[in-house]
Amino acid sequence: MKLLHLSASPRGPRSESLALAGTFLEVIRDSRVEVEEYDLWDGTLPAFGPDAAAAKMAVFAGEEPRGAAAEAWNAAIATFRRFDAADSYLFSVPMWNAGIPYILKQFIDVVSQPGLVFGFDPATGYRGLLHGKRAAVVYTSAVYGPDRGPAFGADFQAPYLEDWLRWAGVDDIRTVHFRPNLATADAATARRVAHERARDLAKEFLQ
Ligand SMILES: Cc1cc2nc3c(=O)[nH]c(=O)nc-3n(C[C@H](O)[C@H](O)[C@H](O)COP(=O)(O)O)c2cc1C
Repeated sequence: MKLLHLSASPRGPRSESLALAGTFLEVIRDSRVEVEEYDLWDGTLPAFGPDAAAAKMAVFAGEEPRGAAAEAWNAAIATFRRFDAADSYLFSVPMWNAGIPYILKQFIDVVSQPGLVFGFDPATGYRGLLHGKRAAVVYTSAVYGPDRGPAFGADFQAPYLEDWLRWAGVDDIRTVHFRPNLATADAATARRVAHERARDLAKEFLQ
């Protein structure tokens, strides 16, 4: 068993999502599950620009990418292989402008390739190709909360990420939400509850 922790917060020791992920991983590290860290901000994630987009469309059309497009395609495949080598995932995901941090969207754009993450049939549509994997996701936001009004923002973070995971074939998704986590009277209590939930989730993962 191998678990890959994909972290999307660049805030290091100040990050609420990384702290919750740490609580989850404390439980996992006592087991025989191998944990690999993938800090999406570490500078190794390839870009997904003109060459990569050209490669993707070539492959989608049944052609082989060439030159710079082939290079971009190989970098995307290498990132996918690292992702696919894990049996389970932990994502730590801050809310940024109601959605996910762009580095996580970049990761999604890099790995979501035909024949790797998804298949496509003109008659039946998309088919996810990741099988037998599961995901735990830690979500944080400072202002948005599900019980607050629209003036506090909306959630395109969890629905987007979970739609992508299901689309890719990962439908066992378990979550921890710590929101809102700033300027609330009971942030300390909510933080404690969220860490308990992270610990319980890790135990569930080991069953
Ligand atoms: C660029 C940026 C955009 C943010 N946008 C939102 C937002 O739209 N809604 C919200 O509730 N909090 C927002 N926040 C606050 C973070 O979601 C919050 O601080 C959260 O704890 C970040 O996760 P982290 O502590 O793991 O970094 C934003 C923070 C940053 C840095």
